[in-house]
Amino acid sequence: MKKIAIFASGNGTNAETIMRHFGVGGAARPSECGATVALVVTNRLSSGVIERAERLGVECVYLPREAWHTGAEVVSLMRERGIDLIVLAGFLCLLPKAVVEAFPRAIVNIHPALLPKFGGRGMYGMHVHEAVIAAGETESGVTIHYVDEAYDHGEIIAQYRCPVLPGDTPGMLGARVHTLEYAWYPEAIERLVNS
Ligand code: GAR
Repeated sequence: MKKIAIFASGNGTNAETIMRHFGVGGAARPSECGATVALVVTNRLSSGVIERAERLGVECVYLPREAWHTGAEVVSLMRERGIDLIVLAGFLCLLPKAVVEAFPRAIVNIHPALLPKFGGRGMYGMHVHEAVIAAGETESGVTIHYVDEAYDHGEIIAQYRCPVLPGDTPGMLGARVHTLEYAWYPEAIERLVNS
């Protein structure tokens, strides 16, 4: 059984969907997925993911700002817990080089737009949807990609699209994109851990 660690900084709704998909919190299909979410890691004490992980009975570790400078503590924690795949789900901190190098093609991220457009530093959450609408795009979506040392930059694994509708607010577009994320991210992760 492969072990997944989820890194999250925000509300944690994607993290919760992934935990449920892999069979925690009384989900319907426990070990069929070939993997389990063994650990949640956050860099923010105010992150909603802490309460979500607790409710679902998944260990959640908070690592403060200093830990993300060198990454040594992050790598040791992953090794100790025997983590095979790191899944970023709204994790808003650049991963240190040491972490990226320790897990080649074993760290994935989801971005709420069609990369390479609307990615990079400062492009997260609602800022992305605001930028997409301001640019007059008629289409947006999600990008699932491997993680390298730059924000939103690694090799693309999959993209899923949705329309940007006339009159959309960032909140409306964000809700549509979140629906795509919940539908496709857990499945993409399952495919990766079983490949
Ligand atoms: C998600 O939409 C995710 O794609 C985005 O943050 C949101 C987190 O929501 N990630 C980025 O913008 C990364 N650049 P959640 O905390 O409710 O899962």
